[in-house]
Amino acid sequence: MHMKNIRHSWAEPYKIKMVELLTMTTAAQRKKALVAAGYNTFLLKSEQVYIDLLTDSGTSAMSDRQWAGMMLGDEAYAGSRNFYHLEEVVQQTYGYKYLVPTHQGRGAENILSKVLIKKGDIIPGNMYFTTTRLHQELAGGKFEDVIIDEAHNPESEFPFKGNIDLDKLDRLVKKYGAKRIPYVSMATSVNMAGGQPISMANLKALRAYTKRHGIKVIHDMTRVAENAYFIKEREKGYKDKSIRQIVKEICSYTDGATMSAKKDALVNIGGFLAVNDWDVFEEARNLVVVYEGLHTYGGLAGRDMEAMAIGIGESVDDDHIRARVGQVIYLGQKMIEYDIPIVRPIGGHGIFVDAKKFLPHIPQEQYPAQTLAAEIYLDSGVRTMERGVVSAGRKADGSNYYPKLELVRFTIPRRVYTQAHMDVIAESTARAHLTKHSP
Ligand code: F0G
Repeated sequence: MHMKNIRHSWAEPYKIKMVELLTMTTAAQRKKALVAAGYNTFLLKSEQVYIDLLTDSGTSAMSDRQWAGMMLGDEAYAGSRNFYHLEEVVQQTYGYKYLVPTHQGRGAENILSKVLIKKGDIIPGNMYFTTTRLHQELAGGKFEDVIIDEAHNPESEFPFKGNIDLDKLDRLVKKYGAKRIPYVSMATSVNMAGGQPISMANLKALRAYTKRHGIKVIHDMTRVAENAYFIKEREKGYKDKSIRQIVKEICSYTDGATMSAKKDALVNIGGFLAVNDWDVFEEARNLVVVYEGLHTYGGLAGRDMEAMAIGIGESVDDDHIRARVGQVIYLGQKMIEYDIPIVRPIGGHGIFVDAKKFLPHIPQEQYPAQTLAAEIYLDSGVRTMERGVVSAGRKADGSNYYPKLELVRFTIPRRVYTQAHMDVIAESTARAHLTKHSP
């Protein structure tokens, strides 16, 4: 073999200290379990699942340092030292001034929506997320999708499918007036588009535009480190910047953020709201007491805040994020080799299989993505998640939303599964694919 052909592999910047044993099931057991769950992978019991790709939320493996931090929990009702540690880490890592902890991301969304949205307001955003949009609606607002058209096309290879279409935003501003638009809801690594990033150039342009019109930018920073990785890899001028620097720059173009720390920040529970505006902070701090808990714990134990503070530091480490996204890309490439139709380019937190293309004979009102998720579980015990008509929820009149994308999400928990697990997943999906396409 010629030496120059040898691949330069990435590998995990950690080794395994403790393992969690899994239950292995037979095909007959899986069939029984699936029927009992009404063919809905959400309703399966965890012990019926071999490899669980339902979500990357709260499913991370914590490090030895985070576990050590759990022992340093200061369980005071008010003013826990872990709160001040977390506050300092949030300020230093993300640059936001004021922190309100919450039990998870949606707790922060609830409070932020209540503080910023008035009845009849319009909230433009780069694609919806279920809980985010619902809290905007419950607060009296109406969500309007302003993501670029490429995001709705699973085959477009555009490198920044999370970008905001500023013309779409401008049309909303002209139609409703800037006064009715309290903020733009901007997510990094757009979950429902397949974990697709927004570019720094687009963010800068968004900042300039919103500044002119007096509109805030609120950042759903649930997967900001993964977005930063794609900026480093794909955007001119960022190759030599660290993930930490890129993350901080992203946050600098926004006025505040909601965070589900159960993803990027490597904890099993936790979230927060962080803002730069004192008045917004004051109101949020008063509301958090009603919905979550006192403003220095927000529904979390001291030990949870400590694990989060340490997890945030680990999440912006270059080697960590390279291995994290590297594993997702490894799985995606395997799927591409097997001709499985996946959303391109490969996103940061999982692989999204295009169910409309995979099962073209099933119309959307018969739930193709849900069907495919059931099929894969039956084959191998791998649990995936429907991200299509079922996830999109229903309108007030009970009729379905029909999103353009009808996907099955293979979400990869952080630091949990091995490369051999990735092989099993790709092979099982390929088998389901072959079954469907053989005469
Ligand atoms: N924003 C995004 C982009 C999310 O992906 C999630 C959760 C939330 C907000 C809400 O945060 O769960 O802590 O309340 N996403 C999970 C998922 C549930 O599986 O994608 P939370």
